[in-house]
Amino acid sequence: MTAQLIDKYHRNLNYLRVSITDRCNLECVYCRPGGLIPILPHAEILTYEEILRIVGVGLGLGISKVRITGGEPLVRRGVFDFLQKVAQLEGIRDLSLTTNGVMLRDNIERIRTAGIRRINVSLDTLDPRRYHRITGRNCFDRVWQGIEEAHAAGISPIKINVVALRGVNDDELTDMAALSLKYPFHIRFIEYMPMGMAARREKEKTMLTPEIRRHVETLGELSPVHRDASDGPAERFRLEGAKGEIGFISAISQHFCRQCNRLRLTASGQLRSCLLSDRQVDLKTPLRAGCSDDDIAAIFFEAVRHKPSAHRLASQQNVKGQMSAIGG
Ligand code: GTP
Ligand code: 5AD
Repeated sequence: MTAQLIDKYHRNLNYLRVSITDRCNLECVYCRPGGLIPILPHAEILTYEEILRIVGVGLGLGISKVRITGGEPLVRRGVFDFLQKVAQLEGIRDLSLTTNGVMLRDNIERIRTAGIRRINVSLDTLDPRRYHRITGRNCFDRVWQGIEEAHAAGISPIKINVVALRGVNDDELTDMAALSLKYPFHIRFIEYMPMGMAARREKEKTMLTPEIRRHVETLGELSPVHRDASDGPAERFRLEGAKGEIGFISAISQHFCRQCNRLRLTASGQLRSCLLSDRQVDLKTPLRAGCSDDDIAAIFFEAVRHKPSAHRLASQQNVKGQMSAIGG
């Protein structure tokens, strides 16, 4: 029996989120507002070979679920070959991708061939002009086509991530939720987490789940859906007669730290045990100095030792890490 990544609060860390780039082709107001966030030089970013080695060691330690994130993961050159290699690693049971969908339309077959069966797509509005205002780019139609084509190609489930912000998209939350009536999509409403450079400007727009839920419930009663063992942080529900689901990700109002099963590898090779704590362990330097797989494993255990029991977003001053470099 191999060692497992179990922390002092008895949480089994079997889910690794891997950010393969801090670059993104959008500049969402709540994540990478217009040009504010410096991009790491290429040499600072782990190579695909380095990432594969780290993920391989993690799989040997009981990681079974891997999510590839960014920035926007599909902007990194060579990503489809990389995905295929991750999918073929021994011990991987669930491989998925979080994307903004801009490059989905033209790459669905490549994503499927690489071994990705499900995806999560960020989409905060159904109004093209508003999409432009939120993301800085006029590509709503392209993203929506990508989602529809991914659906037609059998990618399932497709989870749509909606960050709810007062005065930005609060008047559309019901319409977004109604998508779950027509499509088998999971529409997940996310409480805004103030972090990095976007924090100060957007914090006052935060909407908490009870309020978001009231918008959604104008469509009907929400029945709980059973959680799967490998589920992420969303609380799952279904509207009566719906093909899809509704989810709430309540990092602020009802944090899910007690069930947290996640570790994160940042684009620059830091192992981070909590999205909302800036403490992280450097993997890149030892890796580039020629360390062994056992040394990598020791770094995993070190990160696990430091995993906080819960985040302290409410009391601490700020999380310095940028969402776009950590991958959400
Ligand atoms: P599934 O496995 O499909 O349920 O994915 P997921 O919800 O874990 O992944 P996704 O990348 O779609 O993330 C959705 C939202 O959940 C994003 O806003 C993430 O930042 C947030 N999230 C994911 N994991 C954590 C976590 O450990 N802590 C906090 N606070 N938020 C998280
Ligand atoms: N708070 C909550 N969710 C965020 N995302 C990006 N920035 C934030 C934030 N500050 C979401 C994106 C993406 C997911 C990985 O994280 O919408 O879907």
